[in-house]
Amino acid sequence: MADPQRATLDTVEDTENLGRALAADLRAGDLVVLDGPLGAGKTALTRGIAAGLGVAGRVSSPTFIIARAHRPGTRPDGSAGPALVHVDAYRLAGDLDELDALDLDTDLQHAVVVVEWGRGVVEHLTERHLRVQLAREPESDVRTAVWEWVG
Ligand SMILES: Nc1ncnc2c1ncn2[C@@H]1O[C@H](COP(=O)(O)OP(=O)(O)O)[C@@H](O)[C@H]1O
Ligand SMILES: [Mg+2]
Repeated sequence: MADPQRATLDTVEDTENLGRALAADLRAGDLVVLDGPLGAGKTALTRGIAAGLGVAGRVSSPTFIIARAHRPGTRPDGSAGPALVHVDAYRLAGDLDELDALDLDTDLQHAVVVVEWGRGVVEHLTERHLRVQLAREPESDVRTAVWEWVG
């Protein structure tokens, strides 16, 4: 397994661009686990992943919805992309029954699944997953990302 990769992300655009770059290697069945505190850029990164996959619909931080499905579209290189299921597991607070009810196994048959706050909760769904850890300095726009395939 390769060593973790790292990047410094000075602006929100940098974070979205990292998401775009990561998306180029993502296929249906891939699980992405995003870790990091509130405001670290998990949703911004997911917005970039969505753009890189070419899926439909705006990516937002859902207030009441736990999972949002984005229909497949066309990747920036013109090839057909997979669907995206974007999960914010914050409100699940580790509730495994509720997680089970989301039926992410079924989603993984045709979609990339990205889970904010998913660390320690969803890794069992696939043999391996892409873990992205985001961190922020207080009172700064600078974020750091560390990512690797784990499994
Ligand atoms: N370098 C950066 N990367 C990501 N977000 C940034 C950056 N600099 C500032 N921001 C801002 O920080 C916030 C990140 O929010 P969000 O992506 O929703 O975080 P999370 O989903 O981790 O809670 C946004 O308001 C965004 O505009
Ligand atoms: Mg978020």
